[in-house]
Amino acid sequence: MVVNGREASEAHVAPAGELRAVTKVYGAGSPGEVRALDGVDLTIERGEMVALVGPSGCGKSTLLHILGLLDRPTSGQVTVAGIDPLRVPRRALPSLRNRCVGFVFQRHHLVPALTALENVAVPLRYRGLSRSEALDRAARWLERVGLGARRHHFPGQLSGGEQQRVAVARALAGEPALLLADEPTGELDSRSAARLVELLQELNRELGQTVVVATHDPAVAAACRRVVEMRDGRLM
Ligand SMILES: Nc1ncnc2c1ncn2[C@@H]1O[C@H](COP(=O)(O)OP(=O)(O)OP(=O)(O)O)[C@@H](O)[C@H]1O
Ligand SMILES: [Mg+2]
Repeated sequence: MVVNGREASEAHVAPAGELRAVTKVYGAGSPGEVRALDGVDLTIERGEMVALVGPSGCGKSTLLHILGLLDRPTSGQVTVAGIDPLRVPRRALPSLRNRCVGFVFQRHHLVPALTALENVAVPLRYRGLSRSEALDRAARWLERVGLGARRHHFPGQLSGGEQQRVAVARALAGEPALLLADEPTGELDSRSAARLVELLQELNRELGQTVVVATHDPAVAAACRRVVEMRDGRLM
């Protein structure tokens, strides 16, 4: 059986993501020291859809950045799809990140001068796909998120909700083990937010995509199968 482009046998080998005794201290030793994460143990199994909730400043974004290999913990262990990023040479990290994780942020970070199609295709080009393979795959993903007809539009010609769906297509086109979304509905009206959440649910249900979403929005949390609550850098 093939799950999300990978063999199911491989999918059972390791969780999609794992944090063990992870701490993150900003400004260690200074008077302004912040323990953003304070001994976090978290396992994200493949195929899960998890909401990360908690008050502003509790460490949600910090946790996502560490799980997404955008940042390193002060102490503790991280693995993504069974890979320990500390064992990977620093120069190989961007390519590991490109293969293992897809990120969707509150603001979409699309390149304004590129069409939706080109935006989705760019990370695939970094992965070594030829231009035509990358464009083909990007077109399929835009179709999948319901934007096939908008593929030649520039971000400025798309609504906020459509731009976020392009960002989802871009994050998933590389078939990452983990889709990480940080307040993905934060700037959307309630209708566009509901559509985005439905899309994430569909991708989780139909493709077995593992999703972790940090959110303040109770409707987003309610759509997730598991809710992880944080307070002051710890899981409740
Ligand atoms: N680069 C940084 N330098 C210093 N402190 C930081 C840095 N990034 C985050 N922090 C601090 O770490 C703590 C956790 O921040 P984080 O952004 O993870 O919270 P959050 O739960 O995502 O909050 P929000 O819901 O507002 O997005 C906060 O106290 C924040 O001020
Ligand atoms: Mg945050």
